[in-house]
Amino acid sequence: MAIINNTSLKPFNTFGIEAKAQSYCAISSVEMLKTILKEQHKNPLFILGGGSNMLLTKDIEALVLHINLKGIETVSETNDIVVIKAMSGENWHNFVLWCLQNNYGGIENLSLIPGNIGTAPIQNIGAYGVELKDVFVSCEAMHIETQTIKTFTKADCNFGYRESVFKQDLKGQYIITSVNLELSKTNHQLHTNYGVIKKELETIGVTTPTIQDISNAIIAIRQSKLPDPKELGNSGSFFKNPIISTEDFALLEQNFPDIPSYKISDKTVKVPAGWLIEKAGFKGKRFNNYGVHSKQALVLVNYGNANGKEIFELAQLIQKTIKRLFNISIATEVNII
Ligand code: EPU
Repeated sequence: MAIINNTSLKPFNTFGIEAKAQSYCAISSVEMLKTILKEQHKNPLFILGGGSNMLLTKDIEALVLHINLKGIETVSETNDIVVIKAMSGENWHNFVLWCLQNNYGGIENLSLIPGNIGTAPIQNIGAYGVELKDVFVSCEAMHIETQTIKTFTKADCNFGYRESVFKQDLKGQYIITSVNLELSKTNHQLHTNYGVIKKELETIGVTTPTIQDISNAIIAIRQSKLPDPKELGNSGSFFKNPIISTEDFALLEQNFPDIPSYKISDKTVKVPAGWLIEKAGFKGKRFNNYGVHSKQALVLVNYGNANGKEIFELAQLIQKTIKRLFNISIATEVNII
């Protein structure tokens, strides 16, 4: 088994942070995963997927298992729908493109999200009115301690806003090996409610959009405000949008009449953290070689060779400032390691 000692994790995290793994192994088959877990499950392990949702603040004193399982296959299909099984190491956006080539609809709004298939259910990735749970059927995952494979249905996963059972009760217990998604072959349900999507479709001159047009629009929108990790290290939204009570929101609105919000229930609203951070004066602020992105305040960026600890300190400063100014606690979306 190819275990390498003292390896740099810089190429494997989209923030581009330098940190060392005590040891590292790329996992290319389910059998290999089973074998290595049998040997190593009692030792400290760190499971690495696409590395797009973490901030490394220190070296990893563990064996890093880099999940590289590949493969896409059709599980079942009718004239209208298809169920596709994708292995967890497949790149998410490449999978979206593969679906578009086959005219399979359902995840076009999730174009260009960084990361891998296997990490998509862990935080129930979402963008522009669609979440993974909308197309999710089930996933298979290996229990680290016993190396048995369990199938998790949608109900088992307990999905919420950027949440699932894998971040809660079962945290650190399973490694997702594959995901089954149900996609449309005909009569695609388009999600164009977001104002920015409508505007972008108008700009590109499309009146009756296809799933490919929606994907093109989303790609253009994302590229206009979210930095490409290949050019500027980042982990997408660093914070979650906070959900607060309608009473607290009413009080805030008295002081900040232009504060945006989205109704979640009769008692709660979601407030864009990007707006709060911008209002607090952080948008576009640069500190040495890290900072807050100039086009989307929810994204923290590494201008090159930044240290994870420094970025974490900036995140804490932002959290404290938002608490002081608005009395709102904003939680990180990114996993701080
Ligand atoms: N806003 C500002 N200033 C900013 C950024 C945002 O005022 O610098 C306000 C604006 O009012 C804007 C609103 O926030 O209308 C919403 O902004 P945006 O559409 O960019 O979405 P978001 O709520 O900031 C969320 C997701 C993104 C996802 C977009 C689109 C979270 C934590 N983030 O961002 O997801 O792409 O919606 O659906 O829910 C990610 O998770 O990494 C991610 C990028």
